[in-house]
Amino acid sequence: MSIDNDLELISSFEKEYCINVFAPLQVAFSHGKGVYLYGVDGKKYMDMIGGIAVNSLGHGNRALTKAISTQAKKLIHCCNYYLIPQRAELAYKLCSKTFADKCFFSNSGAEANEAAIKIARGYFYHKGIDKNEIITAKMSFHGRTLLTCCATGQEKFRRPFAPYCPGFSYAEFNNFEDLESLITDKTAAIMLELIQGESGVNPASLEYIKNVRKLCTDRGVLLIIDEVQTGIGRTGKLFCYENYGIKPDILTTAKGLGGGVPIGAMLCTDEVAKGFLPGDHGSTFGGNPLCCAAANAVLDEISNKFILDNVIEVSEALIAQLKNLKSKYSAITSVRGMGLLIGIDFSDNFTAVGLKQRFLSEGFLVSSIGEHTIRIAPPLIISKKEAMIFCNALEKILKSDKKTSGFKKAGQAIPVEINKKDNTAEAKEDTKNELNNDSNELEE
Ligand SMILES: Cc1ncc(COP(=O)(O)O)c(C=O)c1O
Repeated sequence: MSIDNDLELISSFEKEYCINVFAPLQVAFSHGKGVYLYGVDGKKYMDMIGGIAVNSLGHGNRALTKAISTQAKKLIHCCNYYLIPQRAELAYKLCSKTFADKCFFSNSGAEANEAAIKIARGYFYHKGIDKNEIITAKMSFHGRTLLTCCATGQEKFRRPFAPYCPGFSYAEFNNFEDLESLITDKTAAIMLELIQGESGVNPASLEYIKNVRKLCTDRGVLLIIDEVQTGIGRTGKLFCYENYGIKPDILTTAKGLGGGVPIGAMLCTDEVAKGFLPGDHGSTFGGNPLCCAAANAVLDEISNKFILDNVIEVSEALIAQLKNLKSKYSAITSVRGMGLLIGIDFSDNFTAVGLKQRFLSEGFLVSSIGEHTIRIAPPLIISKKEAMIFCNALEKILKSDKKTSGFKKAGQAIPVEINKKDNTAEAKEDTKNELNNDSNELEE
């Protein structure tokens, strides 16, 4: 039996045998090249979400696939009882390119954040100081493990899994006074994203982050920056903190680091590294030869200035064109982001999940976050021309909506996918499923 190209069979097996936490769109891919993915249905899709900011080098990158296959032939895994040359090289590269002196490697972003929270607490514990509380931001997202669900400033992610892990409080994002008011003698760390990617692509203001850095230094609190989504060139710098002119004490990254191979990292200063003694933390797979070989190849490619320059150039052109569309179509209410992490808000009558489905039928992959926001995070190698093809598709969707659904003025657009007149039970069920899909996509 070959399931590879049989969409119906793939779909029925997924439904039958996989726990439904993702509610996937009914599309599967056989291969990819550059910014394109090829469906088993024979259709070509422009990948404007890049595995949610993961496929930093696009699909089928020669250097990355060569590094993986060469390493796979030599040695895929050996445990952390031994020295690992690929890990040593990766740690060296990350430290020499950033504020950091030391690294710990994990398999995912959530695990990198677990390591960050543990080392922050361990740092004070090993010094004999009674500080273990962490302040994070409301509407943040830090992962799906129980601890990182509790670090996440959105109760919906942890509600079914109570009791919660203690030791977290949540400040209004971009509100310095609120954050300052939560600091106590027990505060060990403040943990923030520089752009809240999962709750709508909301960047922190420069002033806020500078004030937070100063506050942490003045009050003896560690600053943890979660760059799981914003790291590895996504915003035009290797790490987004460089755009803010500050240095964190601890940084986490994952997604783009392996270009699709699962690896995360927690980076910190020599001083903070005192928070882990031998045996305090670990991982069976974290930092294994295969994943580190992939990440080394990604870092080498990203260090080639072409990619970071490309992110900045394409981002400028893309954001300018999206803003241009916003000025022409009242259906677009906001365009924001940094580099190639962009959120587009649509007026109330447009469901994000409907738009996502509509983009899919036009051959484009995007993600829906919240009720009316589309997020794009394409591979960093996307060209300006490809970015404009995406903008044209968006305009086509807006125009066709105008023609077919009586698009009028601001706030009067009819939803793209949900035909209000279709009142059949089937249509209602479809709508319900779409909305369920939406909330599930947030829960990646
Ligand atoms: C900012 C941030 N932190 C942590 C995570 C969790 O990463 P992972 O899904 O690799 O565990 C994510 C995932 O979306 C994220 O965006």
